[in-house]
Amino acid sequence: MPSFKNTNPPMDRATFRANLAAIPRVKIAHLPTPLEELHRLTAELGGPRILIKRDDATGLAMGGNKARHYEFELAHLVEQGYDAYVNMMDYHSNNARMTAAAANKFGIKYSCVLRFAAGREIQGNLLIDKILGADLHLLNEEESEQSRAEEYARELGRKLEAEGYKPYVRVDHEFPTIVGTLGYLNGALELLGQLEEMGIHTVKIIGVGGRSTGGLTLAAKNLGLDWDITGVMVNYDMPIDSYLYDVIPGAARVAKLAVGFEPGDMTILDQYIGEGYGIPTSEALDAIHLMAKTEAILTDPNYTGTVMAALIDQIKQGNLTKDDTVVILHTGGLPALFTFADELWKHEYTGV
Ligand SMILES: Cc1ncc(COP(=O)(O)O)c(C=O)c1O
Repeated sequence: MPSFKNTNPPMDRATFRANLAAIPRVKIAHLPTPLEELHRLTAELGGPRILIKRDDATGLAMGGNKARHYEFELAHLVEQGYDAYVNMMDYHSNNARMTAAAANKFGIKYSCVLRFAAGREIQGNLLIDKILGADLHLLNEEESEQSRAEEYARELGRKLEAEGYKPYVRVDHEFPTIVGTLGYLNGALELLGQLEEMGIHTVKIIGVGGRSTGGLTLAAKNLGLDWDITGVMVNYDMPIDSYLYDVIPGAARVAKLAVGFEPGDMTILDQYIGEGYGIPTSEALDAIHLMAKTEAILTDPNYTGTVMAALIDQIKQGNLTKDDTVVILHTGGLPALFTFADELWKHEYTGV
């Protein structure tokens, strides 16, 4: 497994910090988020020492990783004078909710095209989108085909423009994909400080395979940290190449990093997806119950529950042992618990 331990790191911390500080940023997230030690889960699983970085506690209408992302994204929008935002996401999207919240804080009109949303129960993120006053466009199955949904969003943008707005149509911009990684370059500095305060210098970090874990990896590589990062995939339709690897060079450029990212810098686990995105596996449902029973921490059926299922299995397989210290990156997603209430209610917790 890769780690970036290097006594002669490609970048010194002061330069890394200064480069990040030079990127326009607004204050949105509740930071720093806690880094907690999970004594009961550690004892229950009988494996490594386990800690959790609580990025479910970032605020912004029920928390999650995107609050870190939008500190950069909203600064960019405000600077460029955009006064409307058109998003396009799946019906239970955390991104859709958190973008609505961020837009509200800056008085930006927010419209959201939601795929596979028509006829759904108004619950979870969808309900919060509504409460936040988002202009919602609920697509049926046929309209939800990716390119059709994108065109719907663009058409909405044209309409807003005709009404005199300056709309930011997300699907046409690179920056929203870069901010996920930028947010976690900063997140890495925060985590590094917390770990060092606890006297921990060597860790294995596990989280959803995506731009947030990508940001941690990029930071660890540039700063020469003894961090070994694993990304757990949750979706077959978002290949890691296009979802992450293609985006990283943009983030490295904006943050003026010394070194970029190579596939292989992060361990990718893609065996825990199950039937597909939005269909919780029974192992994820079990893991949600276990985490709640041992630590009173809620995880979600799509993302962090899958990470927990992966962690449990990796311990069972002996890939994580008592010699390791593991940090779980909790990226939020909690409103989805309500969307998947039926599955969670009916699921018989089998113990681990
Ligand atoms: C709860 C949660 N975790 C993780 C992710 C992955 O995000 P990213 O690729 O920005 O790390 C998402 C994406 O929507 C999410 O909602």
